[in-house]
Amino acid sequence: MLQKFDPRNQNLKVWVKDGLYPREEAKVSVFDSSVQGGDAVWEGLRVYPEGIVCLDQHLNRLLASAKTLAFTDIPTKAEVCSAIDQTLKANGMNDDTHIRLTLTRGEKITSGMDPRLNQNGSCLIVLAEWKPLVYDNSSGIKVISSSQRRNAPQFLDSKIHHNNLLNNILAKIQANVAGKDAGLMLDERGFVAELNGSNLFVVKGEVIYTPFAHACLPGITRKTVMDLCGRHDIECIEADLSLSELYNADGVFATGTMGELTPVVEIDGRAIAKSNPLMQRVLALFKASIREYCQPLLD
Ligand SMILES: Cc1ncc(COP(=O)(O)O)c(C=O)c1O
Repeated sequence: MLQKFDPRNQNLKVWVKDGLYPREEAKVSVFDSSVQGGDAVWEGLRVYPEGIVCLDQHLNRLLASAKTLAFTDIPTKAEVCSAIDQTLKANGMNDDTHIRLTLTRGEKITSGMDPRLNQNGSCLIVLAEWKPLVYDNSSGIKVISSSQRRNAPQFLDSKIHHNNLLNNILAKIQANVAGKDAGLMLDERGFVAELNGSNLFVVKGEVIYTPFAHACLPGITRKTVMDLCGRHDIECIEADLSLSELYNADGVFATGTMGELTPVVEIDGRAIAKSNPLMQRVLALFKASIREYCQPLLD
């Protein structure tokens, strides 16, 4: 499903490093490390009137990713929250909004890979857009398995939520060429990792399975689903899952901040039912509880 331009986003104000700029002036330098090496970390946040879904977990993941990549001058949680707060207020947003929160290693004194060339501190970008859920969660999505493998820790640790998304983008291109909605990526051993931009869950009988998080992003929506299952006595297990197990599942769904919970109705031409009662129960539980997971920006 291709997202469309939303005219409400024409006159956005975007936070870049130290203040708010109109959309057309919101830019980073050609010396910024994100331009030179995709050297940045990011989070996608969803805004409801009650607050931001799992805000603290997102901030923790952002700061942990920045620490792993040895960024310097990392903003504090309070500073990030203040920038988000000012951005949402400047745009009059408190619902139907998605924030792309990016922290780059910052500007370099001259082009080059060496992080010692970054002498101006990191650069925080808060891009808040009017963006309803990106998938039609009633009709579901169709996916194909991609020949592009998802990174595992022996190549690049999937626990780092970084901007080097090229293998996921290649998987998405394969899905586009096939006329499908997303690329299903396997890990380096051939087990299912995730879709190119969301995590996967599989229903078999009365049990729900999800791939171990060694080669997928340990998604925060994924964690919320596991938490909800625990709270409602639904067995949810991390496992190595093969494509054949997905083709023959009773239900499959994807999870992510952009689309929340989305049934997968076809994998490599094999139809997957979306009417499974256990899957529908989890989808309904998520919808009913998501606002409980919202946290206000400033206490
Ligand atoms: C590759 C990938 N997998 C899964 C997800 C879903 O993660 P979350 O639930 O934290 O939004 C994302 C979102 O950023 C992603 O980029």
